[in-house]
Amino acid sequence: MKLIELLKEKLNEQELKLVPRSFDIIGSKGKAVAIVKIRRELESKDKLIAEAIMKLNKNVKSVLKKLSGRVGKYRLYNLELIAGDENTEVIHKEYGYLIKVDPRKAYFSPREATERQRIASQVKPNEIVMLMFAGTGVYGIAICKKQPNVGKVIAIEINPDAFYYMQENIRINKLSDKIIPILGDVEEKCKDYFGCCDRVIMPFAIEGWKYLETAIKCLKQNGILHFYFISSEERLFQDAIEILMKEAEKLGRKVEVLSKRIVGRFGVRMHKVCIDAKIT
Ligand SMILES: C[S@@+](CC[C@H](N)C(=O)[O-])C[C@H]1O[C@@H](n2cnc3c(N)ncnc32)[C@H](O)[C@@H]1O
Repeated sequence: MKLIELLKEKLNEQELKLVPRSFDIIGSKGKAVAIVKIRRELESKDKLIAEAIMKLNKNVKSVLKKLSGRVGKYRLYNLELIAGDENTEVIHKEYGYLIKVDPRKAYFSPREATERQRIASQVKPNEIVMLMFAGTGVYGIAICKKQPNVGKVIAIEINPDAFYYMQENIRINKLSDKIIPILGDVEEKCKDYFGCCDRVIMPFAIEGWKYLETAIKCLKQNGILHFYFISSEERLFQDAIEILMKEAEKLGRKVEVLSKRIVGRFGVRMHKVCIDAKIT
């Protein structure tokens, strides 16, 4: 049954048209939270909508309403609990690994699971991987599960709550011999790894470009960079490639683009893209 059908008796025709068509569910069969965007016109009906979501999805124990897009350095939504349990910490399962997270405290998007697998499937045995902007460590966990013979993943995160969850995720996925979690600013913490890494991942599309110099300095000769960027539809990959080439050139390095792809939509006629490149 669809949400809209469940609400047929309680909302008028106009209101039914505005009911959210989709929402994120993070968690497990036992306990999950739903994150939903509710149109201003339906604000007075938000509890009804939340209850319907919980009725349809028995595992959803809390419903959080988005009060904003992702904001600030930690890239968190402002979320308001509109129904259910105050405790919104959950354990999410994807591709056989577990991610413990409270979406009110740390960034996590279940929609990026396929992209994480795409990156993880490129990692080769013994590689040293730098995971900048690590969040809950989910890219690192995905890599270690897909490529158990990876050398090490160095995972740097600035949000102390996200860092706490990263440590928890390393523990519950039994990866303490593979992932080195570091709390701090990539600008500072990467310095210890200059010239050491076979691969650098930059999953921070809005501001990652500011740290390209640092990322490139981490890479060995012929290392691989995964550079995420927000692009307009008109200049889908050009801007990202130009910025990358400019930064590499400053350091006397060259860029060989291996692949470019749209990862997802980002507002009106804007896209999140990823450039995979070899830095020679
Ligand atoms: C878009 S989120 C991605 C998180 C994680 N990689 C994921 O995919 O779930 C970007 C993350 O970068 C962190 N961050 C922002 N600026 C940072 C910096 N200068 N150094 C380290 N981490 C930073 C934020 O706290 C946030 O957790």
